[in-house]
Amino acid sequence: MGTITINGLVCEFEAGEKILDVANRSSVEIPQYCYHKGLSVPAQCRICLAQISAPNPRNDGKLELMMGGKLLPTCSTDAAEGMVVTTESDSAVANQKAVMEFLLINHPLDCPVCDQAGECTLQDFSFAYGRGHSRFTDQKVKQPKKDLGPNVYLYSDRCILCTRCVRFADEVAGTTELMIDGRGNQAQIDVFPGVPLDNPLASNVIDLCPVGALLDKDFLFSQRVWFLKRTAGVDPLTSSGDNIWVEHNQGLVYRLKPRENMGMNTWWMTDEVRYGWKFVHSEDRLVGPMRREHGMMVEASWSRAYKQAIEMMNAEGTVGVVVSPMLTSEEAFALVTAVRSIDGSAKFYVGAVPVDGEDRVFSNAGDAKDFVLRAEKAPNARGVRRVLESMVALDGEFGSFLRDAGGFGCVVLTGNYPSNWVTDQLAKAVAECEIVLIDTLDSSLVEMAGVVLPSSTFAEKSGSFENCDGVVQHFGQAIPGQHASKSEGQIAMDLVELGSGGELTRRPPAFGAQIVDAQPGQVSGASESVNLERGELFDVDAVRVEMGRIESLSGYVGSIVCAPEDQLVESDMEMVTL
Ligand code: SF4
Ligand code: FES
Repeated sequence: MGTITINGLVCEFEAGEKILDVANRSSVEIPQYCYHKGLSVPAQCRICLAQISAPNPRNDGKLELMMGGKLLPTCSTDAAEGMVVTTESDSAVANQKAVMEFLLINHPLDCPVCDQAGECTLQDFSFAYGRGHSRFTDQKVKQPKKDLGPNVYLYSDRCILCTRCVRFADEVAGTTELMIDGRGNQAQIDVFPGVPLDNPLASNVIDLCPVGALLDKDFLFSQRVWFLKRTAGVDPLTSSGDNIWVEHNQGLVYRLKPRENMGMNTWWMTDEVRYGWKFVHSEDRLVGPMRREHGMMVEASWSRAYKQAIEMMNAEGTVGVVVSPMLTSEEAFALVTAVRSIDGSAKFYVGAVPVDGEDRVFSNAGDAKDFVLRAEKAPNARGVRRVLESMVALDGEFGSFLRDAGGFGCVVLTGNYPSNWVTDQLAKAVAECEIVLIDTLDSSLVEMAGVVLPSSTFAEKSGSFENCDGVVQHFGQAIPGQHASKSEGQIAMDLVELGSGGELTRRPPAFGAQIVDAQPGQVSGASESVNLERGELFDVDAVRVEMGRIESLSGYVGSIVCAPEDQLVESDMEMVTL
């Protein structure tokens, strides 16, 4: 490891690192547009240029300006021992001003209606390095808006031709849908005729675009980004363990973004996960508990529904439990504990683990880890399996449950899949059983069940998932439980409470755990109607302590990979009360 000096700060570097990488890692700001660590380095936007001096071995190691004092791109110049780099010299500052002026000549300056406003480096660098006024008095070149594919719009006149999107499609996705068409001020990004931007990683170009040229159709005009809060999450739909941000406001999820983790997903996420959260606010959500009375499903209070569920589990015959691989490990633990407290001979099975095709590998630049799209469409099959095996003799996978189901008096089914998961085979297998259904979305099982307990999605709870490589990662609760739903963990705690003769105590609406979305000047995300009866609060940390008492689950205490704390993205505008 050597040292270089960037803008007066001494920074350490690894052999082979570019100066810009060293600056980024050391929090020294150098403006940059075309550079991205995951892509090739064209050094074409020219805003990162710096004056660089280096020791000359042929002159007793004296510092000399490289290239006779010409500015050099820090994104493509290797750091070397003793270098002195400045982006604050007169020539470097003049270059920054010139590049900014050039980039903005034909830019429409439509920040007030641009989705990127607030997270746009053209805005930020214009403020920090630009002139503050335009000297351009001619007519601007107007370029079209284009529909590039199922998820992406291109507003061509905002594009600064950094080519990040083109390089991503070429180098990572490997699908090469994008190109630059035309020359000079007529040049614009485009797709080839009849070939839309439609690959499993396509929407990463939206994140890569440093300006508001590539926009997410799904997020378009839905929220100003400075109102969004971020909660660290983990891929809730596949076994990848990819790190994500859940971005939300006032109790609603607005978008998912990749969270950089070089040991997991590097910089990317799949479109499948990016847009897979829609079921959180689906009209098909189960909104409240229900129970069967005189052959009809009727709405019920939580207490009444729980009591009926406990009666059903206490009735003659063994209880069969399907623990969904969509549940967190902590919830699986709590659920097994709850059911065993009611029926000590209950049998446990891992729920259906959907698989779609095969894993697909996408290569990253340099020595960065490959990005893999996982075929297994459940986030925690291994975690649930591990918990069941550690607590009870696992009675089998979902296939075994389908074979054994006819022998149970009552079955407890957990789902929480993002779409309808009920097959004819399952419906037939449980047709003669009493059913306690703990699920998120409406399905044909609702009409077959004796009791329905609505559960919360990944965004409404915290816990941990174990990915396909056995990495256990924690994620946080982003929004309050929607409607009257509760997490499967809370449902399990309530069952234990009532099953042991206790009562559910009411909590006031302002109970801390429900307020997860408050910020000055904004309405809290907690619903005024949140007043759910519940027993002891399901607390992930407390459950992990319990898990730690079992030797094979002792890793859940202290060694779980924890995500960063939630991030409030503070507005830099003064909040005005009208
Ligand atoms: S659309 Fe965005 S990412 Fe693509 S070249 Fe233009 S500015 Fe760069
Ligand atoms: S970031 Fe270095 S030239 Fe674009």
